[in-house]
Amino acid sequence: MNILSIETSCDETAVALIEVKNNKFKIIEDFVSSQIKVHAPFGGVVPNLAAREHLKNLPLLLQKTIKKHKLASKNIDLIAVTQGPGLIPALLIGTNSAKALAYAWKKPLIGVHHIAGHIYANFFQDSTFPLSADASNSSRSNLSIKFPALALIVSGGHTQLILMKKHLDFKIVGETLDDAAGEAFDKVARILDLGYPGGPAVAAEAAKFPNKSKFQNLNLKLPRPMINSGNLNFSFSGLKTAVLYTVKNNPKILKSKNLKAALCAEFQQAVIDVLISKTIKAAKKYSPKTILLGGGVSANQELRAQLGEAVEKNMPNIKYKIPATRYSLDNATMIAVAGYFQYKLAKNKKKFENNWKNLEAAAGLYLSSRA
Ligand code: KG4
Ligand code: ZN
Repeated sequence: MNILSIETSCDETAVALIEVKNNKFKIIEDFVSSQIKVHAPFGGVVPNLAAREHLKNLPLLLQKTIKKHKLASKNIDLIAVTQGPGLIPALLIGTNSAKALAYAWKKPLIGVHHIAGHIYANFFQDSTFPLSADASNSSRSNLSIKFPALALIVSGGHTQLILMKKHLDFKIVGETLDDAAGEAFDKVARILDLGYPGGPAVAAEAAKFPNKSKFQNLNLKLPRPMINSGNLNFSFSGLKTAVLYTVKNNPKILKSKNLKAALCAEFQQAVIDVLISKTIKAAKKYSPKTILLGGGVSANQELRAQLGEAVEKNMPNIKYKIPATRYSLDNATMIAVAGYFQYKLAKNKKKFENNWKNLEAAAGLYLSSRA
């Protein structure tokens, strides 16, 4: 089965082609076109500019994929597209293009929830596609996934703990009450003049301050919001404000490389401490067999490593699965994989056949029931 997939929910235009044979995924194509340069002068993603870039780039990526792999109706079985949540102008470009292809090729069309995509970035192993160097940076990353699984999804728009008792069964057991973790990284980067996208910039600064023992004297300690709240929810907006006031009270920070790096390290650690604490708490409550990590913030090397260590220490019998960083960030392969499971497990596959008429782009799309 060959699946062509499209992702345009935010600032990456992505197209993938995957082949599924005997329950194994082979990534045949995996294009991601970044818009960083377009949005950087604005310090964040501008929805209408994102849409304009998708409109320019998506047809080119599709044309490249179609030409290179000689695609036609006869060698495509399914089209999958991110339906939401995301920026509506951006989503409209992807969904509308997917509809056009589904209509022209007379193929079933599946709308995929972006967060389901991030979760399913953990559900494929591919031995043929050249993965980035860190694909095997966790010796435990090749273990297969067993249910129940607990997913920590941390992206620019979401921070959620999701319990899955089986495929496509998503129950949100904890989530942020305000900002998402990635959003906090982006806002802190702005406060510290580190530019956009903020996550990698803050992480790179933090890495310049490895000497944690010297931290004590710098008076930069930040709160760990809601770490003892007794539930599985998060809050990152106050943490961002704490960074803002730390800088206001000590403007030297903006001029001192060492202080800035120290503050980034402390901020990153505060986010990681809360994420790990709640994930372990959720794991103790729900006893999953696997813990999955996903979403853009899961590209953060400290989070990947420290969560792995915490799982190993607290619950060594639970498998810990992370995507290669390439698949932590937005991509279309994860949309194809989630779409595959949606199609394969659907009782009524016919409903996807005329979906070019029905599929909507939805900014606020719910993943599941809440606990
Ligand atoms: O999943 P994603 O690519 O897009 C959304 O679905 O939102 O996540 C983007 C978010 C941004 O907030 C970005 O700053 C953050 O992920 N991010 C990181 C890192 N790389 C990307 N945050 C922390 N450390 C990183 N290395
Ligand atoms: Zn994402």
